[in-house]
Amino acid sequence: MKVEKICCIGAGYVGGPTMAVIAQKCPDIYVTVVDINEERIKAWNDENLDNLPVYEPGLDKIVAEARGRNLRFCTNVEGAIQEADMIFISVNTPTKTYGEGKGQAADLKWIELCARQIAAAAESDKIVVEKSTLPVRTAEAIRDILENTGNGTKFQILSNPEFLAEGTAIEDLMDPDRVLIGGDTKTAEGREAMEALVDVYGHWVAREKILTTNVWSSELSKLTANAFLAQRVSSINALSELCESTEADINEVSRAIGTDSRIGSKFLKASVGFGGSCFQKDILNLVYISRSYGLTSVADYWEQVIKINDHQKGRFAKNIIRSLYNTVSGKKIAFLGWAFKKDTNDTRESAAIYVADHLLNEDAKITVFDPKVREEQMHSDLDYLNSRNKVDNRKLMKAEPCPYEACKGAHAVAVLTEWDEFIDYDWQKIYDNMLKPAQVFDGRSVLDKQKLRDIGFRVYTIGTA
Ligand code: UDX
Ligand code: UDX
Ligand code: ADP
Repeated sequence: MKVEKICCIGAGYVGGPTMAVIAQKCPDIYVTVVDINEERIKAWNDENLDNLPVYEPGLDKIVAEARGRNLRFCTNVEGAIQEADMIFISVNTPTKTYGEGKGQAADLKWIELCARQIAAAAESDKIVVEKSTLPVRTAEAIRDILENTGNGTKFQILSNPEFLAEGTAIEDLMDPDRVLIGGDTKTAEGREAMEALVDVYGHWVAREKILTTNVWSSELSKLTANAFLAQRVSSINALSELCESTEADINEVSRAIGTDSRIGSKFLKASVGFGGSCFQKDILNLVYISRSYGLTSVADYWEQVIKINDHQKGRFAKNIIRSLYNTVSGKKIAFLGWAFKKDTNDTRESAAIYVADHLLNEDAKITVFDPKVREEQMHSDLDYLNSRNKVDNRKLMKAEPCPYEACKGAHAVAVLTEWDEFIDYDWQKIYDNMLKPAQVFDGRSVLDKQKLRDIGFRVYTIGTA
């Protein structure tokens, strides 16, 4: 079977870029991305490519090429489902904030809604692809809904987890390490559906990089990949604290262990803590699933990765307070960076939010500069924690569009995101305009420590004395 029309439900950080690349690479396939959020769809259709709702290097060019040719963004979910022979589900699956599994399990209400919408609208057989990260065995729930609420049409369910990292989404999509497709390997229809999706990726990905497995292995591989990556960050962060108490340097340790080919050099950068929409959510999911099968030791093992990450964020904030003579009350602290990593405007679970919250609890005044994040987003991130009311959040924290203004009159500058531009700032100018002793807390180890010390700064970097 050859796929001619694809529909993707969910025009977010995953659905948008993934579909843009599929459309660009497969001019023979017509791709429609739908979302219930009208604002978001409007932004995807904006003539001015600077207004796309997702910032990713290279995305604008791809959208410009494919939009209006074989890529369309719209809000007509039902119509797009009806036309398509393959439907990707790429909606958000946040951690539950209520009820059973609160704070751990994934909230699948959007997924269920999607499945019901597909079942109600479909008039012909469809291949349904789970793209969102989901707990193991979600495919079964989707199948159950489709088969019991549909109009007698047939569905094949595939799992095709996304491994793209934000900030490098386009590179990762264009040249992936692998593409993973899980399906019903036991039946001819299942294998045929998998082959249809293999053919889509086969337009640009070498066949040997496209792995096929059963559905459960595919679902679990996604959680496992993210859990392993997060575990590396927590492992190096745990050791960064030991380095600060000894004369070891975490960057030297990273380099030394990374040359062991069994360990590898990537993902060993000590930081103020990992963020992003996936790591914490996926580990919490793994923990929840393990506990639900009674596997307490397995659950405890993975939960520790989150605990170290929380500890690292708290430790960074406490260190700022301690260095400012144990009180930050009324003191201006400048944040450089709010996004969870560089080259993205995404702030979900960003370490900056938790560090800010900690400092605001101590009555600090925070001014934030981030090249891509808007002030409303920063405030809504803080409001979400519910630590204080909205008015107080806006009184105590504000954004500043100029980094030099953000740092002016501050007691301390904290680097929370590793944006490249921070390295080349005029640090002498920043120093001259700060209160003394001027302190820099580099949560990403991006700045030239010696240069800053020569200027006169007191500098703290993670994992070094
Ligand atoms: C280890 C380190 O590899 C080596 O660099 C260091 O100098 C000494 O410690 P060694 O103990 O000789 O070397 O063996 P290694 O091959 O690392 O295996 C250690 C244990 O892990 C073995 O019991 C092995 O069976 C087990 N293992 C290893 C697994 O169970 N699974 C694996 O994937 C790898
Ligand atoms: C991650 C996975 O990498 C990707 O494969 C999956 O599809 C989605 O989740 P993402 O969250 O976009 O991608 O970013 P990633 O580059 O993995 O970084 C996650 C967090 O870890 C960031 O906050 C980053 O700053 C932090 N990190 C990463 C470190 O602190 N140190 C490192 O060495 C690497
Ligand atoms: P991700 O990082 O997984 O892409 P996002 O939150 O960026 O997550 O995007 C998910 C998108 O899915 C949001 O734009 C949301 O409006 C959309 N969405 C959620 N449920 C539905 C639904 N039933 N129909 C259409 N769109 C939906």
